[in-house]
This record gives sequence, C-alpha cells and structure tokens, in this order.
Amino acid sequence: MATSVAAAAAPAPAMNLEARLRRAFHRASGMPPDKELNESFAFFKKIDRDLKRQRPWPLIVDCCGGHGMLACLALAYGKALDAVVIDSHRPNSHDALVRAWSTADDARAPRYVEQPLQTALPEVLAEGRPTLVLACHACAHLTEQIVAICAAAKADFCVMPCCQRPPTSVKTAMHELKIPSTVAMDLVMVGRCQQLGYEVHLKLVDEKITPQNRLICGRWTGESGGGTSFLPHEARLQKTYDRVHGRKRAAPPPLAKARRRRLPWAVLALAALPVLWRVRLRLSR
Ligand SMILES: C[S@@+](CC[C@H](N)C(=O)[O-])C[C@H]1O[C@@H](n2cnc3c(N)ncnc32)[C@H](O)[C@@H]1O
Repeated sequence: MATSVAAAAAPAPAMNLEARLRRAFHRASGMPPDKELNESFAFFKKIDRDLKRQRPWPLIVDCCGGHGMLACLALAYGKALDAVVIDSHRPNSHDALVRAWSTADDARAPRYVEQPLQTALPEVLAEGRPTLVLACHACAHLTEQIVAICAAAKADFCVMPCCQRPPTSVKTAMHELKIPSTVAMDLVMVGRCQQLGYEVHLKLVDEKITPQNRLICGRWTGESGGGTSFLPHEARLQKTYDRVHGRKRAAPPPLAKARRRRLPWAVLALAALPVLWRVRLRLSR
C-alpha cells in the first residue's frame, strides 16, 4: 500500500515529444484517422538518416501531403527551418492538426500551397534552398512526376508510392515469378531514379502499419547508374574474351596492372607458409 501511495505521489515521468504529439492528436477533433498518424510517424522515423544530412534542412516539402503531417513533424522535431505542404486540395484536417500540435509543441505551421504539384513543386524548388522532398502515398504516377521534378532541380527525395498500375505484360511476368507487381513497379522506380542521377536506398516501413510500405530515398549525386561503375566488370570480361579468343592486348587493362603489383606479396606469403608451419609445430609440442 505504502509503495503504491509513494508511486502515486511521484511526479509523472516527462513525456517525450512523440507521446505529447500523439496525446494532442487524440484529444483534438477533426483530425485525420489514426492510421495516418502511425504511417506518418513510421515514414518520418525511417528517413532519419536522410533528415540528418542537413541539420536542419533549410526546406522540407511534403508533396501531395493532404493533411501535411510530415511537414508538421519536420518542424516539430526541428528537422526543417521551413516546411511547405503541396496538394491540389487542402483538407480541413490540416488546420485541425496544426491547431492541435501548436499546443503540444511550439513548432511553427508549414506553408500550404494548394496547387497541383506540376506547377507548385518546380516553383518551390526554384527558390534554391537545399530541399528534401517527401511524399507519403502519392499515387505512383504522381510519384514519378515528383521524382522527375526533383531530378531537374537536383533535389533529394523520400517517397513511398501507392496505387501502382503495372502494365499487363509486367503483371503476367510477376505472376509467374510470384513477385507482387506493385513491388516490381517500385523496383522499376528505383532503377529509374538511379538513371536520373540518384544514389537510391529502398527502406521498408512495418507492413502492419501500411502494406504500401516501400520507401524510396534518393540522394542526388549526378552520377547516372547510382555511382556503381560498370567499368571494372567490363575490363574483367574483356580479359576473359581475350583469353578465350587467344588475343593479346597491347597495354594491360588497369585491373591487370593492379593484380601484377599484388603478385610479389602473394609469392612472399606462400614462401612464409612452411616457416609458419614449423613454428606452429614447435609451439604445440
Ligand atoms: C493518397 S493521398 C496522400 C495524402 C497524404 N500524403 C497521406 O499520406 O495521407 C494523395 C494526395 O495527392 C493529392 N493530389 C492528387 N493529385 C495531385 C496533384 N496533381 N498535385 C498535388 N496533389 C495532388 C490528393 O489531393 C491527395 O491529398
């Protein structure tokens, strides 16, 4: 009994920001469904490394943001100096969310641009500040446009597409491969992002939170092919062809030169083996 009284008298442990935001969310009315809260937090936590690339990002854009929860989280956690939500339709839940979270945290509200992304995103990126573009469940055709606009502005992005529409040919092949065609379409997107000049990371959000859980994060490098050069493979393959066809090359490819430099070390290591073997025998006696 005494213990429980003491426990009751003890000050409640300080709530962390996530707990405070969740509590404010559940106490307010007119909010988006709970599922959206969990999705946004899961997305936001998964992109932690991308968020840390700038401390803070001068600008974070929540594209096709709807309620704009990602933009609100970016401001609440101090990950962005400034945040913009772009959506062709501004729902009332955005204002409810901003009101609810302004009491849980001193975060400023994001700017809402109620316009199609096709015009609004290029304009926002033209401001020239280092910008991270986020898009949670923008339909795949919108995500493709978001990525293309980001590439034109060399901006980084984290997108989690939904509503992929695979062509029948892909559907059939994926059926045979037993791979969901939505997954295949996201992998196609990964390849496209690499070709556009991005280093790409595919991350997964817990599928219990959302089945459309593949996050594609692109960091602009400007190197088409995602920084993976095919040249070493090409050099190796050429060597094999030369051997098979009995051809001799005038100058050895750079890879062969490197091997030759390593050769004396290999010879030394082989020569040392009997010595090491004798030392081992002596020690074990
Ligand atoms: C599935 S909702 C996702 C909303 C929010 N990001 C979320 O996670 O709940 C897709 C959003 O894209 C918006 N949208 C559709 N076409 C658009 C366009 N061309 N430009 C900007 N927003 C668009 C819709 O209004 C909608 O809010």
